[in-house]
Amino acid sequence: MLLINGDIGQKAGLFDQMKAVLSLRGIKKSKFVLQAVRSGGRLEIGGRNMAAEIYRMVSFLFAAAVFLAVLSIVYASWRNGITPMPASRLVRREVSNEIHRLNKQGSLADAGSGWGTLALHLAKRCTGWRIIGIENSVIPLAVSKLLARLALRKDQFVASAEPGNPISFIRGNLYKYPYETVDLIVCYLFPGAMRRLSGIFRDRLTPGQCIISICFALPGWEPDRVITCRDLYRTPVYVYTVK
Ligand SMILES: C[S@@+](CC[C@H](N)C(=O)[O-])C[C@H]1O[C@@H](n2cnc3c(N)ncnc32)[C@H](O)[C@@H]1O
Repeated sequence: MLLINGDIGQKAGLFDQMKAVLSLRGIKKSKFVLQAVRSGGRLEIGGRNMAAEIYRMVSFLFAAAVFLAVLSIVYASWRNGITPMPASRLVRREVSNEIHRLNKQGSLADAGSGWGTLALHLAKRCTGWRIIGIENSVIPLAVSKLLARLALRKDQFVASAEPGNPISFIRGNLYKYPYETVDLIVCYLFPGAMRRLSGIFRDRLTPGQCIISICFALPGWEPDRVITCRDLYRTPVYVYTVK
């Protein structure tokens, strides 16, 4: 930033002075924005490097966007009682193995789909399933939609049971979803959520529908199988069929 001070009456002279300073320093005038600022009885004439100004502005906007995104994730996690932490690769693989083992086809709801990694994994691995991710945290939901679009472009999905898009992510409350409309529910939540879902599933689900829960059991339900993943935490995966 170059700044030259002088009386208001000397305006023209100061601009000439300014141009002289720029050319003395070998600076191209086009890179500068000349500024004239009135302060008290004085006129300040200066020049700022335009590229540096744009860089500062872009950096500020980027930092503000990151801050708002983090704030949104933290707020949604606090409200939901859980962060959008994805299931690990080993756990995802174990879940897709269990789905193959069920030997069924139809529609599958990922209750609390986070960044969409589990739902996308299943859409790529499990033939004959149409996947619906339900999520209420805006940023992870937007990322999952973007990842699904990219994967769709690269044609990474296996054939779906129904015509149309094999995977979709919707913004919604997982406690209000009409689970009676799907054949299989997959979730990776927390004990409080499993207590709530236990009653919801009892009221809504009909015989033959299945549930796969990562890490946490459904209180009051008898699992058909419990698989222990070979990951660091020996994560259990519970498989239920509504009787
Ligand atoms: C641990 S993450 C699981 C993500 C994904 N299913 C996976 O296994 O990789 C749980 C997700 O549930 C979401 N969630 C929690 N309560 C919810 C609610 N009431 N409605 C919608 N989503 C919810 C959270 O925002 C979070 O992203």
